[in-house]
Amino acid sequence: MILKTDFIPKAFTTEIEQGNFSWSAPSNIALVKYWGKKPNQIPANPSISFTLNHCKTITKLSFTKIEKVENFSFDLLFEGKPKEDFKPKIQKFFERIEVYLPFLKHFHFVIDTQNTFPHSSGIASSASGIAALAMNLMSLEKLLNPEMTEEFFFKKASFLARLGSGSACRSVKGSVVVWGNHINFKESSDLFGVEFPTNIHANFKKFQDTILLVDKGEKQVSSTIGHDLMHNHPFSEQRFLQAHSNLSAIKIVLENGNLEEFIKIVESEALTLHAMMMTSMPYFILMKPNTLEIINKIWKFRNETNIPVCFTLDAGANVHVLYPENVSAEVLQFIKAELVGYCQNGQYICDKIGIGSQILV
Ligand code: DP6
Repeated sequence: MILKTDFIPKAFTTEIEQGNFSWSAPSNIALVKYWGKKPNQIPANPSISFTLNHCKTITKLSFTKIEKVENFSFDLLFEGKPKEDFKPKIQKFFERIEVYLPFLKHFHFVIDTQNTFPHSSGIASSASGIAALAMNLMSLEKLLNPEMTEEFFFKKASFLARLGSGSACRSVKGSVVVWGNHINFKESSDLFGVEFPTNIHANFKKFQDTILLVDKGEKQVSSTIGHDLMHNHPFSEQRFLQAHSNLSAIKIVLENGNLEEFIKIVESEALTLHAMMMTSMPYFILMKPNTLEIINKIWKFRNETNIPVCFTLDAGANVHVLYPENVSAEVLQFIKAELVGYCQNGQYICDKIGIGSQILV
């Protein structure tokens, strides 16, 4: 078993004065949801996600060696312009990972970041943003420590990303990623995400995710506060057990291609996530009337056509419409004809399953 102390580097073998890297990291959409955590970003239950392809953050990290400083030294640019309000999140991330990257206070960093999806679209950018930064920091560690294996590189990148934002650890490597100890996934860990260990069925290769932007407003409840509401929640123990059994069930489904079962698990997970928010104290309703309109339209369309299309939700009002590639034409036509009217300014994003972070040259 890998322990967190395995990620504390011993000594660095190389000196480096300055340089830069660029990485892209994708967003991901959970099928079995992470909702609730223990101290130090340990998930209360395991989760599994599809990695997205188009929705990503691209981050360039420039670094210059300096005399060791008291506090972290970094500038943050978002789309080329200084962005002070993103800095506290990065500061906190650096504080949490410093013990694993002891060189952080020996460099000045310029973090230059942009998203491929519209800012404040309601799509979580913390997973892709933190993952992209974690990849860059690992590239720097690899410069200082060139003998590092590729396997360790990605594991530690996911480990660091988790400390910034839990779901970010699922945006590092692989198309389908499991995070959190689970009895049926031998390699799984609470500390980092791992790739789905076997081949997924052809039905899920090139799976499509069309994200309907129902409400682009600021989140009513941050996910950090949301996770906290699972402490002393009347249904939490049952929910955590359910996530374990849904993960066992979805493993079988991802292998055998049973779309009917897939739909049941995924939609139930989405509604359970929202049910947890509706039954916490304080309670929240993050769905909007149009979220429900869309869900009902999807159910009607599926009943009438037998086309295996389903939905999932994040901690917000937007709807992710999930379907296999071979029904894309019919589903897109349905979306354009019947669902776009429920989106804010008619906006939606077509995405599909991707492969993870990429270094850019
Ligand atoms: C509803 O990863 O954003 O999207 O660890 O506090 O940063 P923090 O939370 P975050 O929570 C994501 C919650 C979710 C479900 C999921 O992605 O599994």
